[in-house]
Amino acid sequence: MTDCAFDFDQRIDRRGTDSLKWYDPRGRALLPMWVADMDFAAPPCVLGALRSRIEHGVFGYPVALPQVEDAVVRWAARHYEWTVDPDWLVWLPGLVPGLHLACRALAEPADEVLALVPVYPPFLTAPELTGRRLRAVPLAQDGRRWTIDFDALREALTPRTRLLLFCHPHNPVGRAFTRPELVAVAEFCAIHNLLVCSDEIHCDLRLEPGRHVPLATVDDVFAARTVTLMSPAKTFNLSGLCCGYALIPDADLRRRYRAAGQGIVSHPGALAYAACRAAYEEGDAWRAALLEYLRRNRDWLAAYLAAHLPMITMFPVEATYLAWLDTHALGAHNTPHFFEQAGVRLSDGRAFHGPGCMRLNFGCPQSTLASALERVRRAVAAVL
Ligand SMILES: Cc1ncc(COP(=O)(O)O)c(C=O)c1O
Repeated sequence: MTDCAFDFDQRIDRRGTDSLKWYDPRGRALLPMWVADMDFAAPPCVLGALRSRIEHGVFGYPVALPQVEDAVVRWAARHYEWTVDPDWLVWLPGLVPGLHLACRALAEPADEVLALVPVYPPFLTAPELTGRRLRAVPLAQDGRRWTIDFDALREALTPRTRLLLFCHPHNPVGRAFTRPELVAVAEFCAIHNLLVCSDEIHCDLRLEPGRHVPLATVDDVFAARTVTLMSPAKTFNLSGLCCGYALIPDADLRRRYRAAGQGIVSHPGALAYAACRAAYEEGDAWRAALLEYLRRNRDWLAAYLAAHLPMITMFPVEATYLAWLDTHALGAHNTPHFFEQAGVRLSDGRAFHGPGCMRLNFGCPQSTLASALERVRRAVAAVL
């Protein structure tokens, strides 16, 4: 049970809605722990803002009002101590288009783009789909957590390497990179003359103490090499509203980025702007309660695995509501099919360049998480 004003324990039936996560064309009763959205309703302040926007009834072309831009600027100042100039803002209907624009605007055709794997699949497909070349560099492990292997990054460089697609906090391994790590990334990019697109969509879902440090803030000169992608969508569970933005301090980079999307990438819709403004202006208490709930789910999950499924391991999740499970020990049973037979749908690690692993989304009521894990426990007990 939660003891706060917001009820994250409530199970909201999403079956029969337009939910990508819950819709199963084959009508199976699987518990979906895959797509990265949460099974929680948006905060009351957002629902209120949406209701009053809908009540108005007119849905012509929207514009980003100074009030919503101001909400973004004040959110960045309050939560990351980052002084953002509203001129840096480029509104986007989503961050996947933002990754594609980065490849188009910051690298030339056939240039090489670095990504640290395992990683959210669009990092792997955006370079190829935009006619650039992906250089996937594995993250390392130090026994406690995933780390950046700078030697491997250096070895991957060629004269055509232009861009690093960086994910911070990192989906799927759940790292919130530390300031020294970020400084090292900045130095690496400066030394090797790379631009960097830092996708920070999970930045407000930091579960560890301390605040999020945007990569662009570690050095003022380095900031001119950066495109930072952010959004209220993950934090406030608004992915279906299509809202995101890029923050690009350098005017020339911003011009190139905007030009790459001209006539192709549209802006967010009227409801997205209304939701974004309300979330950033009034959503602090809801977010604090959410983080508390996610921490409990994370800790419960880790304890459950240790007690009942010790052959499935995970490093501590520092941020996000995604757990990257090492399922190698399941041997021949280590397949998405096995988990589906158990009644649970997970994300297949292969799509992330992480074979042998599965990603589990714990952004759900604790009772849903418990049911899913119980299904897995029973299925594993039957075969091992
Ligand atoms: C790192 C990362 N970037 C982007 C996205 C998707 O962003 P959008 O829905 O705004 O396109 C996700 C969704 O899971 C993500 O994890």
